[in-house]
Amino acid sequence: MQKFLKQILKKAKSDPQRIVFPEGTEPRVLKAVSKILKLKIAKPILLGDEKAIAKAAKKLKVNIKNAQIVNPATFPRFKEYCDKFFKLRKHKGITPQQATQTMKDLEYLGTMMVYMDDADGLVSGSTHSTADTVRPALQIIKTHSKFHKVSGVFLMMLDNKLLLFADAAIEIQPEPRDLADIAIDSANNAKRFGLKPRVAMLSFSTKGSANHPLVQKVRDAVKIIKRRKPNLPVDGEMQVDAALVPKVAKLKNRGGKIQGNANVLIFPDLGAANIAYKLVERLGGATAVGPILQGLKKPVNDLSRGCSADDIVDVTAITVIEAQHNW
Ligand SMILES: CC(C)(COP(=O)(O)OP(=O)(O)OC[C@H]1O[C@@H](n2cnc3c(N)ncnc32)[C@H](O)[C@@H]1OP(=O)(O)O)[C@@H](O)C(=O)NCCC(=O)NCCS
Repeated sequence: MQKFLKQILKKAKSDPQRIVFPEGTEPRVLKAVSKILKLKIAKPILLGDEKAIAKAAKKLKVNIKNAQIVNPATFPRFKEYCDKFFKLRKHKGITPQQATQTMKDLEYLGTMMVYMDDADGLVSGSTHSTADTVRPALQIIKTHSKFHKVSGVFLMMLDNKLLLFADAAIEIQPEPRDLADIAIDSANNAKRFGLKPRVAMLSFSTKGSANHPLVQKVRDAVKIIKRRKPNLPVDGEMQVDAALVPKVAKLKNRGGKIQGNANVLIFPDLGAANIAYKLVERLGGATAVGPILQGLKKPVNDLSRGCSADDIVDVTAITVIEAQHNW
């Protein structure tokens, strides 16, 4: 799987993009930015006070002098951003004063930089919760089409294979239509990362072995996907052993499209997906990269608060690749 990561870094380096890091004084971010500059995979922008950032970098003995630093207190477009944010959110009842206050929050400022085209993507979340990282993007950048749901996919790198798990980050209780979005977006991301997607829609039932509204929800999602993407190899509802083990698939799902060879696993809700990815990471020894957010107009990616500096480098490279596609 090191080969896969090398390919990602190479692709990012071919056309580096401007990536903003709102957590400008966080040691892991600074270490990552120094490596990003060395590898030339992105043009990093750190948010915060120049002196505080320089002091933190000096303490860590890392070189970040080629990174752009944006201090909200002296940022020339600050007032313009506040006015724009007020316009975007006034229908929600915010006042101009509240808009200015919100723009002082570096998560919001960084997200606004992406929206206003002063940055091509954002990476944050090493010290913030997923909700705090994602909410500004949902409010400002928005989804690429109306009613589409944003979701988070993890790249799970095992010794000999790459799997995608979704939605392990955002939508707590997806409806069938949302599950269909999650599956289709994950299949598209699988293609971007060089896989031929084979999508398993997971449940605690395989093709009618149990009946329950939660099983029906997954069946309904499969119907929607088949209607929207007739050529996408998708199958379900199925248990995870039928999705991943050919022998079990033969017994439980003979004749199904997925014969134990799924590489995109779509979980029925956030609880199942989030627990599964952490189990596979912590007990199965997989490297988990993500969550890569899907469905937004511009790339914003969240980090796990337990992330390392190297994880930040990997997520940055992926964000650069998403920005290169410029959707
Ligand atoms: C993502 C999350 C923060 C959004 O919920 P929230 O903060 O309560 O936000 P709201 O419901 O007020 O929605 C804020 C905006 O985002 C939109 N939104 C919420 N979820 C969305 C989704 N999945 N896709 C697209 N838009 C979404 C809402 O429509 C709303 O838009 P508006 O303000 O322009 O009307 C919430 O779903 C959440 O906490 N998810 C779990 C995150 C988590 O803990 N993950 C596990 C760790 S990785």
